[in-house]
Amino acid sequence: MLTLAPMQGLTEVMFRSAYEECFPGAMDSSVAPFVSLTHGNCGGREQLADILPENNIGSMPVIPQILGHEPEEFVRMANCMGDLGYEEVNWNIGCPMRRIAAKHRGSGILPYPAEIREVLENVIPRIKPRLSVKMRLGHRSPDEIFDIIPILNDYPLASVTIHGRTGKQQYGGSVDKERVLRAAAMLKAPFIYNGDITTTYDYQDILSKIKKQDSKLAAVMIGRGILYDPTLPLKIKGIEGDYTQMTHRFVSTLYDTIERNFVSDVPRLRKMKEYWCLVYKSLPVSESAARAMLRLQEIKEFRLSVDKIIEK
Ligand SMILES: Cc1cc2nc3c(=O)[nH]c(=O)nc-3n(C[C@H](O)[C@H](O)[C@H](O)COP(=O)(O)O)c2cc1C
Repeated sequence: MLTLAPMQGLTEVMFRSAYEECFPGAMDSSVAPFVSLTHGNCGGREQLADILPENNIGSMPVIPQILGHEPEEFVRMANCMGDLGYEEVNWNIGCPMRRIAAKHRGSGILPYPAEIREVLENVIPRIKPRLSVKMRLGHRSPDEIFDIIPILNDYPLASVTIHGRTGKQQYGGSVDKERVLRAAAMLKAPFIYNGDITTTYDYQDILSKIKKQDSKLAAVMIGRGILYDPTLPLKIKGIEGDYTQMTHRFVSTLYDTIERNFVSDVPRLRKMKEYWCLVYKSLPVSESAARAMLRLQEIKEFRLSVDKIIEK
């Protein structure tokens, strides 16, 4: 089972629908980028636009995600999501952004197991959807997770996704697979592996390591790997096809979707460039030529350059 990682600014509904259009069934599920808890707000339509059922008409199941730790607001938000038809919500305790972590949100709560227990204790009995958790090994130390797992084990969690870095590491350095697997072996809830899966080899390697021990692997979650190579899930699942042509079609579909969804050229071009920083790796273009494209100021020129690369 493969699940698409939440990536704020990248894997919103626009991306998910373009991806599903080009690769139906490639991803078995997805977690949407986080919705932040804000005082007194239980999720206006604008705040929840990315997960509104009418905007998510594909067949890939979507699990909404919550960032924050205030139990009352959490309960309100999770139940709002439940009212929209979601049977599971995910709690983000892995976001490493400094201003977020400083408030004990995201990975910032990981050094404080008692606060994690307080949220679970106050939230789980009062929400309709099931709760799953997405976390890192720790915020400051990769061993923080070992004080957290016994707490998670006291609650009926739908799953726990573990990313093998600390918050302080952000996305640098390597993933500590060995620690992830040691922590996963202690978990009662189904475990989802996440981190640096960019090739079929990475996938097979983690699978074989997991098989050697006793953790309940529910899924492998892939984030940036999907942008580096949109056909990766097909390769992992052994689905054959013209991968080059599929990738080109996907990039073109994604960029067409961006053209349709943004009202003016400045944000359109900005969004295209955000994706470009990652997707160019799947295309026949040199690093320097791809970088040069980021300096283009005209959307027509940018799009033309992309079209030339994908032979459109
Ligand atoms: C630009 C960006 C935005 C992200 N946004 C979220 C988010 O909204 N929620 C979350 O739980 N993780 C978020 N992440 C973390 C990813 O879900 C994932 O854990 C991380 O990228 C490692 O997986 P990967 O190596 O497969 O990319 C984000 C990562 C990136 C690079």
